[in-house]
Amino acid sequence: MDIDILTLFPQMYQGLFSLGIFKRAIDRKLVNVNLHNIRDYTHDKHHTVDDYTYGGGAGMVLKPEPIFEVVESVKSKIHQGGELPIILLTPQGRLFSQQIAQELSKYRHMILICGHYEGVDERVREHLVTDEISIGDYVLSGGELAAMVVVDAVVRLLPGVLGSQASPLDDSHVAGLLEYPQYTRPDVYRRWTVPEVLLSGNHAQIAKWRREQAISRTWKRRPELLEKASLTLKERQLVDRLKRS
Ligand code: 6GU
Repeated sequence: MDIDILTLFPQMYQGLFSLGIFKRAIDRKLVNVNLHNIRDYTHDKHHTVDDYTYGGGAGMVLKPEPIFEVVESVKSKIHQGGELPIILLTPQGRLFSQQIAQELSKYRHMILICGHYEGVDERVREHLVTDEISIGDYVLSGGELAAMVVVDAVVRLLPGVLGSQASPLDDSHVAGLLEYPQYTRPDVYRRWTVPEVLLSGNHAQIAKWRREQAISRTWKRRPELLEKASLTLKERQLVDRLKRS
């Protein structure tokens, strides 16, 4: 997958892309990330990226010209066809989720635009962007951290990135449930023991225990998720028992 990120602070990404799963994925050419400094696409002496908001009011607005020019420059360099999502990171976007990460992981290429200041000139929204994403109901000073969140969630879903050990199918939220508790060695730590069933070697029992734990944990912490989760009749009955207890 090719990912182009338009930002005022490309340096913010240096740590992220030089470590861990990102470094591995980039080295193995599973993903190619291009950072574009929006300021490099200005033409005036002061490299102006923002300006006052028409109609008055506090805060600056990102100018449309440099953003259009970066996107057009990126588009002019691609040869393969296919749909190209151009995503603006903004608190006004649709709320990011595992489902959206899965959706985005199917594309060959995507462009992410990090908003800043009080916002972005509306013509960027109307005539350039194909999607707007928010990572939650709080306000960040810029879209950079949000774009990192989106890129992380998407890249770990790309084939080959996680290796065969970890499967994204077991993640929290994939089945609409939170994940079950995990333990590793030692089996006794400060007299705290690992649940017996996990040491039993009985894979059917273990699978059942994990599923029940995932359901009860979801009920306790995020009950609203259970509405949409796909549960068997027996599992629905477990939820009913949890509700009554
Ligand atoms: Cl995408 N951008 C900003 N600035 N703040 C946010 C956000 C995005 N998502 C949640 N808060």
